[in-house]
Amino acid sequence: MKKIRGQKILCLGCGPNLYDDIQFFGNIPKEIVGIDINKNNINFLKKSTHPNILKSKRVLENKKIKVKLIVGDILKLKREFINQFDTVYAIGVVGMFRENKLKKLLNLIYLYLNPSGLFLDVDWTECQLSDEKYKERQNFEWYSKDGPTIKKIGKLIVQTNFKIAKHLVYNVPNKKEYLWGKIYGFLAKK
Ligand SMILES: C[S@@+](CC[C@H](N)C(=O)[O-])C[C@H]1O[C@@H](n2cnc3c(N)ncnc32)[C@H](O)[C@@H]1O
Repeated sequence: MKKIRGQKILCLGCGPNLYDDIQFFGNIPKEIVGIDINKNNINFLKKSTHPNILKSKRVLENKKIKVKLIVGDILKLKREFINQFDTVYAIGVVGMFRENKLKKLLNLIYLYLNPSGLFLDVDWTECQLSDEKYKERQNFEWYSKDGPTIKKIGKLIVQTNFKIAKHLVYNVPNKKEYLWGKIYGFLAKK
């Protein structure tokens, strides 16, 4: 997350945790755009009165960071995003799409970055959830086992013309407890 840098940042599938992410960025951006298909996540970020959310909002205001929250499908082109971002990142999002959708998404990310932009993907795999819990998450479009292998995702990133700057895979020792077997990351440059 410290590799996230620049003035304008895009978070794909931001979920309800967007404000937490910002404290880990490598620098304080001017603007962060969060997009998620689930309106409940966006409404939560906009309207929650949970003390932690209010505190995060105050920090953002004090640092004059503009936040734009959008309900939308990241698989659909947003023309206004083209060449706009210094970093595009996604946590727990990219790895859940089937190959054809993932290819499309990677091409869109490439388009959205400015010429020296960075793309960060952090993901997890080897799901250990019970069938019931997995189905629940799948219904919410929160997670899917349909995505390609880590190796294949790396290949698709390279095929999109990105250069992989860093790639790490963490083998979770207590996967039954943690509910995921591997956490991995790709940092790629346009
Ligand atoms: C595992 S959650 C990760 C949320 C957040 N990034 C985090 O780290 O907590 C996956 C997120 O992707 C969102 N999502 C799934 N499909 C999407 C799509 N096609 N367009 C936009 N968001 C999507 C879900 O609504 C959910 O918030």
